[in-house]
Amino acid sequence: MKTILTQSRFRQLSAVVLASSLFVATSCAQAPAVASAPQATAIAASTSTPSAADLQRVVDTAYAKFKDDKTGKNADYIPYLASVPSHLFGVVIVTADGKVYSAGDTGYSFSIQSCSKVFTMCQVMQESGPDVVLKKIGVEPTGQAFNSVTALGMFGNKAVNPLVNCGAMASVSLVKAKSAEERWQKILAYQSKFAGEQLKLIDDVYVSEAATNWRNRGMAHILYNNENLFCDPLEATDVYTKQCSIGVTAKQLAVMGATLANGGVNPLTKERLLNSNYVPRALAVMMMAGFYDESGAWAYNAGLPAKTGVGGGIVAVVPGKMAIVGFAPPVNTAGNSVRATLAIDYIVKELDLDLFGSLK
Ligand code: DON
Repeated sequence: MKTILTQSRFRQLSAVVLASSLFVATSCAQAPAVASAPQATAIAASTSTPSAADLQRVVDTAYAKFKDDKTGKNADYIPYLASVPSHLFGVVIVTADGKVYSAGDTGYSFSIQSCSKVFTMCQVMQESGPDVVLKKIGVEPTGQAFNSVTALGMFGNKAVNPLVNCGAMASVSLVKAKSAEERWQKILAYQSKFAGEQLKLIDDVYVSEAATNWRNRGMAHILYNNENLFCDPLEATDVYTKQCSIGVTAKQLAVMGATLANGGVNPLTKERLLNSNYVPRALAVMMMAGFYDESGAWAYNAGLPAKTGVGGGIVAVVPGKMAIVGFAPPVNTAGNSVRATLAIDYIVKELDLDLFGSLK
């Protein structure tokens, strides 16, 4: 029988893994001293909130450490993205109580791209409940690229999860709206509320992507043909393309993430944007699929829910504590920013933030 790892099963398994680690560590702590015995403290990542000095130190060090890394290449399948200066690099932490720690190019407005998918998924949950996301889109990782046509075929022409292009277009189609304009304005308004500031479309990105998004248009039609897209497929593709072309700074993206870290309430505006009991579901999807076909490696290395965008942004969420954002345009073959990944991974290890336990 095929084993399917559902979200609730995943949580149960995580709990079992943590509980058994605790048991092993406790037993070892009581047993006669053995040089290699794990310490009880080794089972859980840090529960304390780092000091302001530590937060600024890790942000500064991550910036200094990786700013000259030349690995990766700007995405160019959206022609505009190839023209964004590759040297740009910013690192930001925004805490769940709204304090900001930043280094580098954190005021540069870049296209949010796939990081936006998280917040439209949240919008669908908030408007229609989490079961709609589970049943009409799905929450399984594809193990394939973000724009995989193969995944569509493998999973019965269903979107599979809200963080791949198909699922993101399905999310867009599920936002309740009577016209394309209303759909777009509702999405822009909701993403802006997460950022705590009015966000704007970067026209040049939109024009560039709209002229080249044939693959997304094709996949939207297949979804619609199979009743897995819930508005006109060209409308869904176009509004999705606009959503991906929203400009954000690294700091704004970090406030968006900090809203999830703060249980769905924007720490700056204090507005509740997502029910607190929907937040773990959103984070679960990010953990399983936020890095696409590198989601397993990311969970293995850094253990945080996160979302990448082909514009170079990555937002990672430490529940109850903070969001960590890196921004650097060069991406790897999976479409994930190389320097942003390195910076966040470094900070996770320095501050002992892996949700599954300490990596020290
Ligand atoms: O649909 C696309 O291909 C882009 N608008 C978004 C892709 C993306 O950001 C993938 N992420 N790393």
